[in-house]
Amino acid sequence: MLRAARGVNGHTRGHGLSALRWLPNQDRFLRDPHKRKLIRQGNQWGGKTTAVIQEVHWRCTGTHLHFPTRPPPIKVWFVCYSWNQSLEIQEKVWNLVDRSELDPRTRFDPKNGFKGAHKMVLYKNGSQILFKTGKQGSQKDAAALASGSVDLVVIDEPVSERVYNELVKRLSKTGGTMLLSLTPINGPTDYLKALCDRGVIHDHHARCTPSELVPVGARFPLRDESGTPMDADWIAERIAETSESEVDVVIHGGWETREALRQISAFDRRFVVKGTHRATLRQGWGGVGDCGVMLVTDHGELAHHAVWLVIAYQALPLHVKGAPVLTRVVGEYSNPPGADEHDDVDAVTEVLKRMGLRLEAIAVGVGDHNTSGRSKGATSLNEVYTAAFARKMGLPPESPSFDIVKATKGAKSIDYGVRVLNNGLRRSRISVSEHCPGLIEAAERWQGGNDRYKHWIDAWRYGQTYLEDLAWSGLLLHAA
Ligand SMILES: Nc1ncnc2c1ncn2[C@@H]1O[C@H](COP(=O)(O)OP(=O)(O)OP(=O)(O)O)[C@@H](O)[C@H]1O
Ligand SMILES: [Mg+2]
Repeated sequence: MLRAARGVNGHTRGHGLSALRWLPNQDRFLRDPHKRKLIRQGNQWGGKTTAVIQEVHWRCTGTHLHFPTRPPPIKVWFVCYSWNQSLEIQEKVWNLVDRSELDPRTRFDPKNGFKGAHKMVLYKNGSQILFKTGKQGSQKDAAALASGSVDLVVIDEPVSERVYNELVKRLSKTGGTMLLSLTPINGPTDYLKALCDRGVIHDHHARCTPSELVPVGARFPLRDESGTPMDADWIAERIAETSESEVDVVIHGGWETREALRQISAFDRRFVVKGTHRATLRQGWGGVGDCGVMLVTDHGELAHHAVWLVIAYQALPLHVKGAPVLTRVVGEYSNPPGADEHDDVDAVTEVLKRMGLRLEAIAVGVGDHNTSGRSKGATSLNEVYTAAFARKMGLPPESPSFDIVKATKGAKSIDYGVRVLNNGLRRSRISVSEHCPGLIEAAERWQGGNDRYKHWIDAWRYGQTYLEDLAWSGLLLHAA
């Protein structure tokens, strides 16, 4: 009974495609005649695989609804990530296509997939669908795909760039077509994104929104297997049960978790400035006048966990949109193993010297509030360093030329600081010198974790929020 229900030997069932009304993104994808096209959505909604199976069936039978295709018979490779995934897809094909078009020798078994000599779907007109696996990075899989010529390649879920390139070669003689359906997860997709950005592959992407779940021409959304309408509440529930960092990819089909997680997301290489800073620091930049210099630090115990940044800044008129200050990180230092406060002070002085500055140029220092570890008794690290800098300048420790003051911390201060940095970058108020590779790397990589990148971002946000607070109050200090 089960066998019959599965249609193992029967050609009477299947044809599920005829009962479907297409969702908007499926429809856009199916109407596109381009030779390389991708349907990209989140997992388990929207029917990516179903849409490509429809197009495969249309092309195998020469009945594409929207444009002419190569007359059958055609040869198709359906490439899945793994054999298990392939079995699932084979079952979908078996259940969806119009089996009256298939050669009666085509047999399907849920455990072993399509049976017979070549394990393929054979149409009466001679068109064939072969199932292949292209596990990422596997040389063996790539090699197995490295011969033959086909008219249509389908890639369901990401494969490695190696496998992709092999598959493109299989189409070169025939001038054939490639269809891709995937969620950009569990496999490499950087190269695919680049191909989409360049327009080589047409990218049909849909975020999971209520209107994307209403079929074209219908008024109500689809229902899931339990009969629940897939509406705004259904989407909210799916989002609630997905970890926050994965929502963009898993639900919305966005490219790459890494991109979604980057905290200083507004930062890119456009904000990195080249050249010497002597002129910058003498004349300022952007033509807005005097330039001040501050030191900022995130104290840390371990090597390279104490970070010092030199930030140059200029006040802007108060009526500008956003914070009225321009900032540029011009120098950086992090502690080598075993460095004490005097080593740190010497090193920071050297950093300043390389850009033509003396310690006397520093208007203010800001450091996080930290009295443990390297601090001395009840004295805070900020006081320890304030005194050490004074000593270095030949001043009595109790009469320094600048103080290192406490950074604003407290609940939500990380979120706030990250927002301040991103907003400043978006408004092009913030830049970073190319001489700050540590900070640049942290800006590009930090995903919010308590790792080595965090200290750079901590120091940066302390400095930026401090300067913005002063700028808002019209109290921004200028260089001595
Ligand atoms: N237009 C549609 N109308 C109704 N049901 C559909 C439609 N498109 C797909 N489905 C159904 O939705 C389910 C999921 O479809 P499919 O496997 O194609 O989705 P997918 O996006 O490839 O999912 P996955 O992320 O698991 O690969 C299947 O049961 C399929 O029959
Ligand atoms: Mg799928």
